[in-house]
Amino acid sequence: MSVEALLTRDYDANPSSVHEYLRARYGPVAPVDLLGVPVWFVVGYEEVLHVLRNKGGIWSKNVDRWRAYGEGRVPADWPLLPVFQVNNSAFAEGATQHRLRAAWTKALAPFQDHTRPQAQLLEQAIKQYADDLIGVLSEGGTTGWADLAAQYARPLPLMVANRLLGFTADRGEEVVMDIWRMIDAGPDAAAAFQRLYASMTELAAAKRQHPGDDLPSYMIEADPDLTLDELARELLMLPGLLDFTASLVCNVVVEVVSNPTMRESLSVGAIDETVNRAALLNPPMANLTFRFPMTDVKMGNYTIGGGDPVMLSVAAAHADPRFAGALDHQAIRSTRAHLAWGAGPHGCLGQRLATQIATIAVQRLFNHCSKLKPALPPDQLPWRPSPFMRALRSLPVQYQLAEGRVPASPAAGAPMPQPSAPAEAAAPQSRSPLWSFLRGLRRAR
Ligand code: HEM
Repeated sequence: MSVEALLTRDYDANPSSVHEYLRARYGPVAPVDLLGVPVWFVVGYEEVLHVLRNKGGIWSKNVDRWRAYGEGRVPADWPLLPVFQVNNSAFAEGATQHRLRAAWTKALAPFQDHTRPQAQLLEQAIKQYADDLIGVLSEGGTTGWADLAAQYARPLPLMVANRLLGFTADRGEEVVMDIWRMIDAGPDAAAAFQRLYASMTELAAAKRQHPGDDLPSYMIEADPDLTLDELARELLMLPGLLDFTASLVCNVVVEVVSNPTMRESLSVGAIDETVNRAALLNPPMANLTFRFPMTDVKMGNYTIGGGDPVMLSVAAAHADPRFAGALDHQAIRSTRAHLAWGAGPHGCLGQRLATQIATIAVQRLFNHCSKLKPALPPDQLPWRPSPFMRALRSLPVQYQLAEGRVPASPAAGAPMPQPSAPAEAAAPQSRSPLWSFLRGLRRAR
């Protein structure tokens, strides 16, 4: 069967037109070529939901279920292979998945339940990070240009990741910089991954010795049998998940700046609604990592062989006329029955946290800025090429700070703020790589 290459220039620029072409030509399941590997691409809402729910238990995410991989037919240098070989809960099944997922659920609870002191402290910290970042990007003056993706939306969730991990301030900054190197898949990505794995293993060992109020310590408390290797692999998921949060922040900002009625009403309830609308219209996790059926299964117009890779497209499912056609686009409250957070046994466990980060980010930005004018029309914004995420490469804007709302920027040598770090870690450092990096991004005026 002839298959279409999925990741073309057209796809980067306008994935929805490619989804509609595939839907019209093949139906809810389309055979595609993903960087040289044949994959079933699911664009129908019902079909995506059915696989996610996995009622009959026939769908696995474990790479060892991939028939072509087991038979050595997937090239060792296939660029996406490392994503599938990482061996953490997102790819586990059965008892292992239940155990790891239970540890995540328990460990995230103190940060996602607003009656708990950890969640309240985290909220204060997120506000402080947002203010510090706005302080740095506006150091040049009360009006100017900024790239809100690089200077605000991306660093903010990574600062949260750093705090959740419970790194000391200076160590955390090195980690944030390595996370960027890894996610951006540049020439130093492999070395950055090795350093990150070593840092996470070291962190896991340190937290086992001296637990703190942080995610690794809570995971160990939830499941004392977690090995250091298991814990390090789970912790390595966090930066990527928070980079998806960065893309949500950008998408929400775009939605607000390009919609004047939205700007007029920025109450918390309204921002919550905008976050949901952005997740529905432009899901940050656009396509999910593969599933493999354990037996032959009929779906759409095809029979999918046991062990064939299946990629679920949340973005395409949301545009499926059977789903989108039934939505009331004038409704004040948009539907929550969407798939941006996944569903079923692998559904997202950090939805509340991601929503909170996006809500605070947008609130602080619009509190501090009386004017935010996009430098490009929405249809000309540059997107990062990626098989999995829909994220802006940059979000250039012209800003004007609101009178009397100039946030203090962190001192040149100050480390990234770490409210929960031990006192000695908060002492002034000679240089802060993170703040230097962010200051380097400021546009000459
Ligand atoms: C905007 C940001 C985020 C989006 C759009 C998102 C979306 C998703 C989706 C769609 C899945 C399911 C993947 C699949 O079925 O293949 C997932 C899984 C997961 N998410 Fe999120 N997520 C976000 C942020 C976060 C954050 C901040 C955390 C934790 C701090 C988190 C924790 C998890 C975990 C642990 C899983 C794996 C669950 C499992 O496999 O059992 N997510 N996420």
